[in-house]
Amino acid sequence: MVNSSRKRLVIGNWKMHGDSAFNSELLAGLRSGIAQVQGCDVAVCVPFPYLYQTQSLLEGSAVSWGAQDVSQHDKGAYTGEVAAAMLADFNCRWVLVGHSERRSYHGETDAVVAAKASAAMAAGLTPVVCVGESLQEQEAGQTHAVIDRQLAPVLALGSENLSRLVIAYEPVWAIGTGRSASPEQAQEVHALIRTRLEAAGAGQVRVLYGGSVKGSNAASLFAMPDIDGALVGGASLVASEFLSIAAA
Ligand code: PGA
Repeated sequence: MVNSSRKRLVIGNWKMHGDSAFNSELLAGLRSGIAQVQGCDVAVCVPFPYLYQTQSLLEGSAVSWGAQDVSQHDKGAYTGEVAAAMLADFNCRWVLVGHSERRSYHGETDAVVAAKASAAMAAGLTPVVCVGESLQEQEAGQTHAVIDRQLAPVLALGSENLSRLVIAYEPVWAIGTGRSASPEQAQEVHALIRTRLEAAGAGQVRVLYGGSVKGSNAASLFAMPDIDGALVGGASLVASEFLSIAAA
């Protein structure tokens, strides 16, 4: 099999969805269904207010959890921000950084994204650094240039740091559109990312694909040599669908 040395990883990104009642059913479904999943790390990244609920309902299960953003600062007068140490306080293992929705709606620059990844690692969390080109950039043939630009400050963190993070390639045109990249299209960009990671001394970093992943297309994506798992939005809100991706 391909990817033999890198354990598969599937992370759900709930985005701004859920409430206490909905979450409790979803988390119970994950907790009871995870036994059917072998050889894959499974996690959910939930909205901040539900971290305590998530921790309470998943503690002791094989499903780990995390947040969808983190401050680049340790503490201080940063109203509305959440520090990495606060996430660690809820036993978060993961945090998404630089999701395209953060980059486009909140003006996060490549440098800020790398600073957030650094802050997360300093608190013992594993950052999942998201990169990906827009439709316009793809059509202009700029995909590789965009990925290189977004990766540059992250690669500059050095091989020791890089070995403690995860990269997620999420073409913006595939997010929430139902139009996933084809396995070959995704693999082409994953291979570029792998080459850059290898050159930085971190070839074993897991690289996830994200953008309209569902139970029906996960297996063909995971068959690609440089796709190590998925970052899943919409389909992570239905326990059976999400688990079928992890089991693919
Ligand atoms: P999607 O979202 O699976 O709903 O396309 C993926 C993401 O934005 O992480």
